[in-house]
Amino acid sequence: MSSKILFSPIRLGKVEVRNRVALAPMGTGYYNPDGTVLDEAIPYVEARAKGGVGLIISQFTAATKFQRFPLMAANDDRLIPSLKRYADAAHRYGAKVFLQIATMGGADPLGSYAPSAIDIPWYSVLPKELTKEQVERVIEEFVQAAVRAKKAGFDGVELHGAYGYLIAEFISAFSNRRRDEYGGDLEGRMRVPVEIVRGIHRECGSDFPVGFKFNAYEEVPGGNDLETAVKIAKIMIDEGVVYLQPATMSTGIAALGLMKYPGVPILYHPRDISIPVAEYIKRHVGDAVPVMAFGGIKDPEFAESILAAGKADIVCLGRQLLADPEWVNKAKEGRRIRPCLRCNVCHYEAVAWVRILACTVNPYLFRESEEPLKPAARRKRVVVVGGGPAGMMAAMVAARRGHEVTLYEKEKELGGLMVPGCRPPFKSDVREFLEYLKAELAESGAEVKLGVEVTPNMVRNISPDALVVAIGAKPVRPEIKGLDK
Ligand SMILES: Cc1cc2nc3c(=O)[nH]c(=O)nc-3n(C[C@H](O)[C@H](O)[C@H](O)COP(=O)(O)O)c2cc1C
Ligand code: SF4
Repeated sequence: MSSKILFSPIRLGKVEVRNRVALAPMGTGYYNPDGTVLDEAIPYVEARAKGGVGLIISQFTAATKFQRFPLMAANDDRLIPSLKRYADAAHRYGAKVFLQIATMGGADPLGSYAPSAIDIPWYSVLPKELTKEQVERVIEEFVQAAVRAKKAGFDGVELHGAYGYLIAEFISAFSNRRRDEYGGDLEGRMRVPVEIVRGIHRECGSDFPVGFKFNAYEEVPGGNDLETAVKIAKIMIDEGVVYLQPATMSTGIAALGLMKYPGVPILYHPRDISIPVAEYIKRHVGDAVPVMAFGGIKDPEFAESILAAGKADIVCLGRQLLADPEWVNKAKEGRRIRPCLRCNVCHYEAVAWVRILACTVNPYLFRESEEPLKPAARRKRVVVVGGGPAGMMAAMVAARRGHEVTLYEKEKELGGLMVPGCRPPFKSDVREFLEYLKAELAESGAEVKLGVEVTPNMVRNISPDALVVAIGAKPVRPEIKGLDK
């Protein structure tokens, strides 16, 4: 791809980043109970840095001891060596890395403290109201988390002031009903993030980079609108933040999909649905600090067009970099990218906090050390029955490992249930993935026989060393009267 801007360097304060692509902060779904970095996170970070990403923003990292739910953490000095492993993994391949510092606040499912003890949709347990002394402790603990990030070798921190978490709870008039100096008007509601940034600059040096993720649009009564967001942005620019990452928030995960500007747009949403948020902020802050655009960015051409039109300075990719860690290098070299389906399976897992994330299209997510594929010790004759996504993937992997593979599909085309599944015009994400699989399979060296229904006798006659039966799932048909008409 010929690109003028996407692959050009950019400065975040004193830090030079090699290109305009950032890995969005993304939780891993499962966490070590002691707050240390998961072993699986190290090859995950390495793969994205090696794949060419300029800036890696870590997942949500608990900055304070007010965090009850166990996540990756920076709230104790004992965690510095573990955090260093994370920073080193990014640096090993030339990426810069910021630690996202955060605390769940009222959204903590194990119960915690919030600016105000009120019952709002994303608080599963009624939180206690932070006293003034506790607010001061929150600020100091955030500052100390940044000190630890610096000691661990991070190039900067990102203050997480978005979604329904503690810092956002202070900023939003919807969740902050305090009457002391940490509530009231915008100046009061911004006091916590402002004092955190001042404290970080005092303790880590005035040039230690702090990025800021915040809710530029909240679909809740009295929440931030875009005009308020510009005021928030300007306050934080005056405090010396080095970039802005404007996000959006609604009354809860379930409502995310119905928003005007969905934070994690799914395949039913137009791909550019949330870009106007970054564009609005960029238009009002100009070149004061770089602005990041995110939400459904998949195609390098689309990413370039955002930058070229001056809608943002950096593109921040989340799910697409889960789906394909080599996105940047592939985009640069014009190689085929494994497209994210925007199915949000990963996001549901991230917020279920049960197991490590899985991705529908990338079987190597958090199993990065299994790639590249190792050549097979002995070449086998492999028969794959079924040309849906599972059969295609199995045939491709076996062929790439050096086996002699034949895939049989009873229909006249590959794809299985993806064929009807990608027919509606808004299912272009599924269509792209099907085209990707077909192209990869064709290059893998596997032989494909279409229009052949495999019988037990056929298998006996071929007598393969290995048989893969991938005959697919049965579609679920809801019992709706008249559906067949
Ligand atoms: C699996 C998953 C985990 C996420 N975890 C975080 C997180 O820890 N912190 C955060 O600020 N945003 C988090 N997000 C939101 C992403 O940073 C990003 O804003 C969102 O996914 C939209 O970008 P995308 O369309 O490129 O995925 C998460 C999103 C996903 C999909
Ligand atoms: S394909 Fe689905 S599971 Fe994989 S990154 Fe994209 S949205 Fe997440």
